[in-house]
Amino acid sequence: MDAIYKKVNGDCGPQPEEGKEEQGTRRRRGSMYLEEETNKSEVISCIFSLKEEIGALARALRLFEDKGINLIHIESRPSRMNTNEYEFFINVDANCSQALDEVINSLGTQISGTVHELTRNKEKDTVPWFPNDIQDLDRFANQILSYGSELEADHPGFTDPVYRARRKEFADIAYNYRHGQPIPKVEYTEEEKATWGKVFRELKTLYPTYACREHNRVFPLLEKYCGYKQDNIPQLEDVSRFLQSCTGFRLRPVAGLLSSRDFLAGLAFRVFHSTQYIRHSSKPRYTPEPDICHELLGHVPLFADPGFAQFSQEIGLASLGAPDEYIEKLATVYWFTVEFGLCKQGSEIKAYGAGLLSSFGELQYSLTDKPQVLPFDPEKTSIQKYPITEYQPIYFVAESFEDAKEKVRKFAGTIPRPFTVRYNPYTQSVEVLDNTQRLRNLADSIGSEMGKLCEALRKLA
Ligand SMILES: [Fe+2]
Repeated sequence: MDAIYKKVNGDCGPQPEEGKEEQGTRRRRGSMYLEEETNKSEVISCIFSLKEEIGALARALRLFEDKGINLIHIESRPSRMNTNEYEFFINVDANCSQALDEVINSLGTQISGTVHELTRNKEKDTVPWFPNDIQDLDRFANQILSYGSELEADHPGFTDPVYRARRKEFADIAYNYRHGQPIPKVEYTEEEKATWGKVFRELKTLYPTYACREHNRVFPLLEKYCGYKQDNIPQLEDVSRFLQSCTGFRLRPVAGLLSSRDFLAGLAFRVFHSTQYIRHSSKPRYTPEPDICHELLGHVPLFADPGFAQFSQEIGLASLGAPDEYIEKLATVYWFTVEFGLCKQGSEIKAYGAGLLSSFGELQYSLTDKPQVLPFDPEKTSIQKYPITEYQPIYFVAESFEDAKEKVRKFAGTIPRPFTVRYNPYTQSVEVLDNTQRLRNLADSIGSEMGKLCEALRKLA
């Protein structure tokens, strides 16, 4: 589930219708943060780890309380170095420096865990942790902001115990999923299939007129190879395998809401976090969050297109290690492209955003003269405000996916981070291009590809 979609807008079918030292940068592999070496300190940031046992955090927090230290910020993640430990990142006021020393000492002597990381840097000088390897995405499974079965009071399924129990089944599947496993197949009920059928039938009639050519090119293939049809909800595993064969993109079930940072990071590895449940049957035209109709009908066809896949990955790569304010900007770019993007095709404008392609009403509205249409420009698009529960008043039009990708790449170059990243598809890992050996490897790789290109051109001449 893309938190960007739910957290920021929360409306799928809009309401009206229903440790490496390097020059100046100290990287600690195995820790949560990369930190630049600066001494400007207004906030002290610490990382400590505790063994996973009942009451351990409460005892640690009591040490801070006893010394009168106010924690400005705290977040936790499972430890990368020790599987039976949790790591806690905290910020405290710099005025507490002396008292903090005493607490640090006590953490080491009185609590069973160990203080294996401790730094004092200004928060804005830290570079957030990001996954290096596709396997690292497993960590997101335990970092969801809310579990998929926790419904808001105004959710159509809120008072339906059967639907809520079903949602928990789906959330549990995703929570226990790990990279490399096949996505468990689901036996959808007749009621669920009927809901899918209504959405499928209505949207399919609109695609020839409103959807971009890439969507219309892929859709028949999904019908042929992935079981896309009115009386069948396709299985994520089948769709994921199809996508891998087309562009290397894959689906991964998600148990609940991911942060924008985590969701975008998945795209860097060509991984799309997908829901597996379906909207409530009482309102087939409306869902307050992404569901399988949105994912399979809106997102999947485009991820099978090489140009769009590259564009999406570019947003993901730009997000790795980006400061929080840039994550927000990238999430907004994602919003106005992957979710609600329009693109030029010949003399016409067509829809490629999944939020449009999965909404019967907004798909038609977006291509009328009612909304304002602006050229896609990441600098401007990334700061554009948008409404939460109604059709978008503004859409951005891309010249092409290639053009949009180049613009996002240039925009990524303006993000303040002390390194450049590159995805290595052979190792399915992100390489940080921060030393000469890695640059040499990249140059060798480019040289090899250029050789093939020249040879092919010679043969064609
Ligand atoms: Fe989405």
